Amino acid sequence: MRKAEYITTSRPAGDICPVFRKMFSVSKQIQKAELQMTALGVYEAVLNGKRVSDYVLAPGWTTYEKRLQVQTYDITDMLREENDLQVTVGKGWFSSPMPGFTNDEDRTRRAERPRAVVGEICLTYEDGSEEIIATDVAWEWAEGPVRFSEIYDGEAYDATVEPADWKKAELLDWPKEILIPQEGEEIREIERVLPKEIIHTPAGETVVDFGQEITGYVEICLDAKAGEQVEFLHGEVLDQQGNFYNDNYRTAKAHVLYTCKDGQQTYHPVLTFFGFRYIKLVQFPGKPALENFAGIVVCSDIRQTGYIRTGDPMVNQLISNIIWGQKGNFLDIPTDCPQRDERLGWTGDAQVFVKTASYNFDVEKFFVKWMHDISAEQRADGGVGVVVPNYLPVNDSSAAWGDAATICPWQIYLTYGNPQILSDQFDSMKKWVDFIGSATTTPDLWTGGQHFGDWLGLDAPSGSYKGSSRDDFIASAFYAYSTGLLIKAGKILGKDMTEYETLKDRIVSAFRRTFPDYTTQTEHILAVHFGLAEDPQKTADVLAEMIRKDGSRMRTGFVGTPYILHVLSEYGHGDLAYDLFLRKAYPSWLYPVGKGATTIWEHWDGIMEDGSFWSTDMNSFNHYAYGSVADWIYEKAAGIRPMEEAPGFERVMIAPMPDERLGSLEAELHTRNGVIRSGWRYVDGCVRYEITAEMPVTICVNGTKKDMEPGKYTFWG
Ligand code: BGC
Repeated sequence: MRKAEYITTSRPAGDICPVFRKMFSVSKQIQKAELQMTALGVYEAVLNGKRVSDYVLAPGWTTYEKRLQVQTYDITDMLREENDLQVTVGKGWFSSPMPGFTNDEDRTRRAERPRAVVGEICLTYEDGSEEIIATDVAWEWAEGPVRFSEIYDGEAYDATVEPADWKKAELLDWPKEILIPQEGEEIREIERVLPKEIIHTPAGETVVDFGQEITGYVEICLDAKAGEQVEFLHGEVLDQQGNFYNDNYRTAKAHVLYTCKDGQQTYHPVLTFFGFRYIKLVQFPGKPALENFAGIVVCSDIRQTGYIRTGDPMVNQLISNIIWGQKGNFLDIPTDCPQRDERLGWTGDAQVFVKTASYNFDVEKFFVKWMHDISAEQRADGGVGVVVPNYLPVNDSSAAWGDAATICPWQIYLTYGNPQILSDQFDSMKKWVDFIGSATTTPDLWTGGQHFGDWLGLDAPSGSYKGSSRDDFIASAFYAYSTGLLIKAGKILGKDMTEYETLKDRIVSAFRRTFPDYTTQTEHILAVHFGLAEDPQKTADVLAEMIRKDGSRMRTGFVGTPYILHVLSEYGHGDLAYDLFLRKAYPSWLYPVGKGATTIWEHWDGIMEDGSFWSTDMNSFNHYAYGSVADWIYEKAAGIRPMEEAPGFERVMIAPMPDERLGSLEAELHTRNGVIRSGWRYVDGCVRYEITAEMPVTICVNGTKKDMEPGKYTFWG
């Protein structure tokens, strides 16, 4: 932007969202007109009464101190002779005090950040001349109908308010060097979900059930009189008695208050979002009916690329929950959850889920942007925080969280085959590995430091969220793993990685010396999966034995769970992998399905057998992490495995692992190199495999391995 200055209100607008306005005339024939714009906050730009784009919650969420995305809209066809551009700016992620559990100083600092816009209308006339109308003091501002808008607390909108009493905008001194072109996917309203039922609860509440947990907002459509109000709260589940419940949102109010104008009208929040399945109507003029409501799903515009269908309806519901979990948490950055007073870019959650995410949807662009934020946030010493963008007062580096710096780029490269992300991130990956070397209290291991360990592991000592696996064990295992990924990335980029190869050897030796024995399920899993166990087969056998002796129950948390089935399947314990996968009792993937889940839960038993809740303070019903089991379904059960030497599925290994209890399975991936489909079904005790590939494949079925050209193949086994 050549001329634009940041403009803000001439006095603080408080909770009310300011509308910035520019009226301009176009007297000559237009060839092309573009609007470039961004805001401190989130904005909605409306030209001559129409939104300039279906991008919502622009400019999205980046490391605002260093990177602020600028959007470019083609407005050629929207122009008239006399034009009126109005831009409403809400607090968004930028000047909301969030998150709930940070300190007051940070909350105040963020809440006091100014709201501003900066932009240019660039008019190119048919005669070749150009005109730029840039934000400056000639723009005006007024209070708009959005009386309150905040990420966690919701929105208040007064449809009787027309912006009036326009005042001159003021310049705001804010760095322009942070402006970057839009990098990520645009955020859009991607789908509508119609409510299933209006419930009258035992407590006498009126609750609308959308039948599906979604992230976005509710559109209301009604006939009303000016001044009447619609007011509602959001919730994910009903409590044991069937009453509305949202204590698990913690301090997030998730509240909407709409003041009606006269007549037929439609409204949905414009500058915020919620994670919910239910809304409780606190006020509604007249008798609410299903037709008054629609759920609007808001998500980064990622395209679905992975599909799984099985012979088991509960597993199919689980798959649906995983897909919805991703849609609900891929709103510009990968978040832990969309509802409570967090919704943060937890790095650990993202690395746990990145493989599944990249198979389910095309998330290359989405992750490229977020990885750039990881680099931007990375500390001078190479430390990577547990949350990116950083919104925590103390954002230390934890093993398996900071490792997102190496794991995510590597996975995005493998899935999509584009080395650009490795070259973009190589320095950051290297700084992360070097950081561990400088932070450890023992050379060639990662000992000491603050870690989340095997977060939510079921072998946690009472009162702790951390599983019993040793912090030093997990941290050192991830040190080895990240160093290995750095070496691979460096080699692809043609770099000399000898120094890190030597380091990796030293880490493996030190690890083996220091940790000759493994204690927990997760320790066994990491030792095998990261290639650290001297005898991986024996270690996997011991793991299988441990699990069986424990009643075929998982004890793993965030760190062990993503790999447990992979390890069992790879080392001859496929039966046990399916035992765990198809288990219906707690703890298992299907237990929440049996309890009516429509997304993945943070805790296996978020709702316990008797219908009571696991807890109120940490109980999200839309936390994608355990949805990472989908990558086992694609890679092991259906057997579609990317090959490191042919990234982007240029060539694919197909090695399905069927199990009669599932009946049938079909997985389909739309890759950069074409569609690949692998399926099997049991027919009279025999397995019929069907593989369709648009790229060359190496098929491993019935103990033989065959290289095949693209085509359609069936086998019996
Ligand atoms: C988040 C997690 C996150 C964790 C870190 C939680 O509050 O919701 O998913 O990774 O904190 O320990």
